[in-house]
Amino acid sequence: MTHVVSENCIRCKYTDCVDVCPVDCFREGPNMLVIDPDECIDCAVCIPECPANAIYAEEDLPAEQLAFIKLNAELARADGWKSITKRKAALPDADEWKDKPNKLAELVK
Ligand code: F3S
Repeated sequence: MTHVVSENCIRCKYTDCVDVCPVDCFREGPNMLVIDPDECIDCAVCIPECPANAIYAEEDLPAEQLAFIKLNAELARADGWKSITKRKAALPDADEWKDKPNKLAELVK
């Protein structure tokens, strides 16, 4: 099992999650983070840290977010998606995008 970053992260990227990860399993893309499923140890400490409530245990993902299991695994290995281990500023309009649904089309890979 793993934990999964879901759609709510897109265009927010608050990065509070990375500061608490004991195994540095987050990978950063242009407007979202993902979790490398091969590194995640299912500790769950990142879940309450996310202001956008974007992180779920794989088994708790809402049905409409299931595609993010594969997306996290693929993007964790994608060119340009690098390890991020320290919190940084959120995207400038993160608060405006925080509660918007259906953001998948906004994902930049
Ligand atoms: Fe994304 Fe939440 Fe982390 S918005 S970068 S999963 S704190």
